[in-house]
Amino acid sequence: MNVDIPGLLKATEPMARSIASTKGVSPRISQDDMLFDFLVRAVFTADHEKAIEAYFMGGEDCANRFAGLVHEYFPDGPKNVLEFASGYGRVTRYARKVLQRTEWICCDIHPQAIAFLASELGIPGSVSSADPARWSVSTSFDVVFALSFLSHTPDKTFAAWVERLFSAVAPGGLLIFTTHGAVSLANMKRGGLKAEFDDRGFYWNSNSDQRDLSPDDYGTSAVTLRYVQSAVAPLHRAELVRFQQAFWWGHQDLYVIRKAKVG
Ligand SMILES: C[S@@+](CC[C@H](N)C(=O)[O-])C[C@H]1O[C@@H](n2cnc3c(N)ncnc32)[C@H](O)[C@@H]1O
Repeated sequence: MNVDIPGLLKATEPMARSIASTKGVSPRISQDDMLFDFLVRAVFTADHEKAIEAYFMGGEDCANRFAGLVHEYFPDGPKNVLEFASGYGRVTRYARKVLQRTEWICCDIHPQAIAFLASELGIPGSVSSADPARWSVSTSFDVVFALSFLSHTPDKTFAAWVERLFSAVAPGGLLIFTTHGAVSLANMKRGGLKAEFDDRGFYWNSNSDQRDLSPDDYGTSAVTLRYVQSAVAPLHRAELVRFQQAFWWGHQDLYVIRKAKVG
């Protein structure tokens, strides 16, 4: 489907401003944002204005859900959060609203996204790598949050990304991520895909929301709890403290992994 995204964003600017002002967040959506592009092309195909609404409402819902979750573990709020695979700030724009005292840092594979987050939202970030072995950060975080990233990660890098992201968690902190799981797979099947876990509990197809990324590095995966447990098992001081099926969007599974304090 051919859609003029810059034209659509211009035409819907008053609407975006109005929604964003009620929420007290930036109204800007980047024309390079592939997640917005996906909402327009693949989800709200008949009514593109709904994609704008969904972008702001969905971002707010995810930010609230995340803040509610972290307050269960850090009642006064975490000191800092790394939002990994933040994209162009669908969720990030609510950071200061939901966790006022938390330092929030982003990371994404798209340099334009990191530039957008800094200039439009005033949130700092760093550019990631397709290869987990080449990714690191200099600080450690009370919470590392990866929403809908390991839902797109191939088998070859899944465990390595879990290990790398966990390495950025401070002692006593949490790695929080989502994956496609059994409910997502059942939805895919209902949509006509021949989607089955293999005997290790992994499923893969190369479709994704990020058309510019190589399907060797980013597609659609789904995993079982057992598959994730085997990625977590070798990690020093890691304890899987929560698995909640279909917690996110009614189909993505939630994982919370705590790093034990030293001593
Ligand atoms: C499904 S989107 C989710 C974006 C955001 N978490 C949200 O929920 O709005 C997945 C994001 O992963 C990012 N991504 C893909 N590969 C990555 C990598 N190797 N390192 C960091 N980010 C990556 C994409 O650029 C995209 O922004």
